[in-house]
Amino acid sequence: MSSVMPGVPTKVKVCEMGPRDGLQNEARSVDAATKIHYIDMLSESGLPVIEATSFVSPKAIPQLADAYEVFTGIAKRPGVLYPVLVPNAKGFARAKEAGATAIAVFTAASETFTKRNINMSIRQSLEIFAPIVREARAEGMWVRGYVSTCFGCPYEGPVAPAKVAQVAVALAALGCVEISIGDTIGVGTPNRVVEVVEALRREIPLERIAMHFHDTRGTALANVTTALQEGISTFDSSSGGLGGCPYAPGASGNLATEDLLYLLHGMKVETGVDLHKVREASRFISEAIGKTPTSKAYLAPEQWWKTAS
Ligand code: HMG
Ligand code: MG
Repeated sequence: MSSVMPGVPTKVKVCEMGPRDGLQNEARSVDAATKIHYIDMLSESGLPVIEATSFVSPKAIPQLADAYEVFTGIAKRPGVLYPVLVPNAKGFARAKEAGATAIAVFTAASETFTKRNINMSIRQSLEIFAPIVREARAEGMWVRGYVSTCFGCPYEGPVAPAKVAQVAVALAALGCVEISIGDTIGVGTPNRVVEVVEALRREIPLERIAMHFHDTRGTALANVTTALQEGISTFDSSSGGLGGCPYAPGASGNLATEDLLYLLHGMKVETGVDLHKVREASRFISEAIGKTPTSKAYLAPEQWWKTAS
């Protein structure tokens, strides 16, 4: 088939998570210069959004304690967004000082994870984000809101789609431009994706929804395919398949950007991203952290993955 399947968007926005979600979970520390080079390589690939770092407590995430140095050191490619995670007013002040023009606030659809991750209830998190998002938008910043544990919580188990929609709506009401729906521990399956998207569709235009799949159980690409058929056109992924949240036991890497790109390009969906260049960035950062990428498309023989890219 040479054209996009019926119902599937012709273009998809790929949001790169490697420098943030990827490196926040790595045991081996990576110096700022290496992170900067990695992000600069990713910028060269045509990715439209690269989450660069986090202005969170360095006690919570020591791996990203160098956020200022990294953010101010990267080459900002025109037209590319470099969001940074902001958990509270202190993080917002640090992000502004570094010159951030895009931020992401983050909460979850389950209370226990929210408490472990950011030491707040869901309600408290929304109260803390409200003035941050208001000010950020007034200053012309792009603001994303994350809802974690949308398909299951490592502490509470299954999460109702209605709860996901409730938190997503609250973030949208604060002024978040885009809401990213996180499968933090990679438990989602296509039928659950349909249920979650259906709950969201009634409340928020799907153009404002991103899906953020971790590939812990190998279901991320199946979930992407289903989400595409449901009309989602923004996906988060991480080069090489890096990633995980230290506050989500058992969480492993994000869906790999190479695997997502291979699927999308094979389905004739445009991304504007060069798979080969992402692969080079993955090779660079994998050598720095001493790990082999988990991406299947990365590991496959080049002559075959080139045919679809
Ligand atoms: P807390 O301990 O309740 O905060 O942590 P606090 O206000 O009491 O402050 C404690 C100390 O941290 C103080 O320092 C503050 O100054 C400092 P001390 O007086 O002890 O020396 N502090 C900060 N320092 C720098 N930047 C800040 C900051 N805030 C406080 N912004 C807090 C609450 C939210 C700060 C903490 O829990 C935290 O930083 N959590 C972040 C956890 C995190 O980053 N998790 C991973 C990202 S989420 C994720 O991966 C999921 C996602 O990928 C989607 C998905 O997969 O589902 C997005
Ligand atoms: Mg994540």
